[in-house]
Amino acid sequence: MDKLVINGQVPLHGEVTISGSKNAAVAILPAALLANDVVVLENVPNIADTKNLVQIMRDMNVEVEYLDEHTLRIDSRNLTNNCADSEGIRKMRASYYFLGVLLGRFGHARVAFPGGCDFGVRPIDLHIKGFEALGAVVSTKAIIEMKADQLIGTNIFLDFASVGATINIMLAAVMARGTTVIENAAKEPHVVDTASFLNSMGADVKGAGTDTIRIRGVRRLHGSEYAIIPDQIEAGTYMVASAVTGGDVMIRNVIPRHMDSISAKLREIGIRVIDGDECIRVIGKNCRMKPIKVKTAPYPGFPTDMQPQMMVLLSRIQGTSMVNESVWDNRFRYVEQLKKLGASIDVEGHIAIIEGVEKLCGTEVQASDLRAGAAMVLAGLSSEGTTTITNIDYIERGYEDMVTKLKNLGAQIERISDRDPKLRVLGRSAG
Ligand code: UD1
Repeated sequence: MDKLVINGQVPLHGEVTISGSKNAAVAILPAALLANDVVVLENVPNIADTKNLVQIMRDMNVEVEYLDEHTLRIDSRNLTNNCADSEGIRKMRASYYFLGVLLGRFGHARVAFPGGCDFGVRPIDLHIKGFEALGAVVSTKAIIEMKADQLIGTNIFLDFASVGATINIMLAAVMARGTTVIENAAKEPHVVDTASFLNSMGADVKGAGTDTIRIRGVRRLHGSEYAIIPDQIEAGTYMVASAVTGGDVMIRNVIPRHMDSISAKLREIGIRVIDGDECIRVIGKNCRMKPIKVKTAPYPGFPTDMQPQMMVLLSRIQGTSMVNESVWDNRFRYVEQLKKLGASIDVEGHIAIIEGVEKLCGTEVQASDLRAGAAMVLAGLSSEGTTTITNIDYIERGYEDMVTKLKNLGAQIERISDRDPKLRVLGRSAG
């Protein structure tokens, strides 16, 4: 029932600190269970997805304690159960990482089918093929069940550089017998971070961040202390927020190298992007912006998870821009919501053609998935009048304290319940 209400057209100014990477955290939290020991994880983003994972692990008899808001102590020495089928599994796609983890630790995994954001068909066939190549027998009926007397390292070529399949195969292979080689592996920062975490527990993973990852199986892993990298997509979202509001924002706790494809596109548009030491300043004010073409691609290409946010910026740039979505089949559904705000976008299959409009005008829109929700927030920030965003659960799955962070930058944004009188007051004042 809760909503975000934004009075737009306020240029953002100031500093924002980026949280830990969601996509790294959702792999690394389950990966901690491979150790049969105590793991301490720092810089864990405090978002609905990580809270859900904590609950799933507690349901599995794993002791999980928050040492502070962003630090988790995970003790999986009492984990004897190879089954993960609690309700939380069905709430998120990344729960598929329990497949690789439980198979790797016990040689036997029973995991409910994962859920998650719906933007088209989201198969896990590449994960399954990888597990089978390692020697697992897989059955997918009411639940996904996999068994292997002994996982044995082998060469696996991925038809597509899938992030999830790359990580899942690494998880299953770290304690397999012999060496596993993943070719055409995904190179995203969270793949590298997961490999670094596994190595901190005593695994032998080499080549993460390149097309070929080599995993030499070790007998056992041990506990470790590890800090998760900053979130590339959260940082990119605030970069676009500064650009689209004509603001000037210093974004802290980022790895500028991870942002290269996003920075390059913003610079091509005419936005000033200044890389610093673990920070990036994005200046949108007094910039002459020009239309561009964007094609999403696996890392180091432009991330599909930044496509909806970029679409909002392109909607505001005079002239014709083009977005080619090459990763997901059906990731333009949110465009209908942007059109309600006045955007002019034509979608034909994988391509969107955008005619920039002078202004967007606030109205009620919904978040149809996590990044689409972020795009609605950006659209609200740049729209005239009041924008109300519903279905904000999606946004809270992946963005920590978005409302507070935006308010600190000067945004007029409130999170309110449908029954809250403030909603009516805000709505009336903006006409
Ligand atoms: C991860 C990210 C997600 C991001 C995506 C692409 C996490 C938790 N989520 O998702 O936010 O949008 O990478 O950067 O890290 N595919 C198959 N078969 C498979 C697996 C994937 O055909 O077994 C296809 C998908 O349909 C899609 C493409 O490969 O077209 C990319 O998927 P993948 O990289 O696996 O995405 P996820 O790991 O699920």
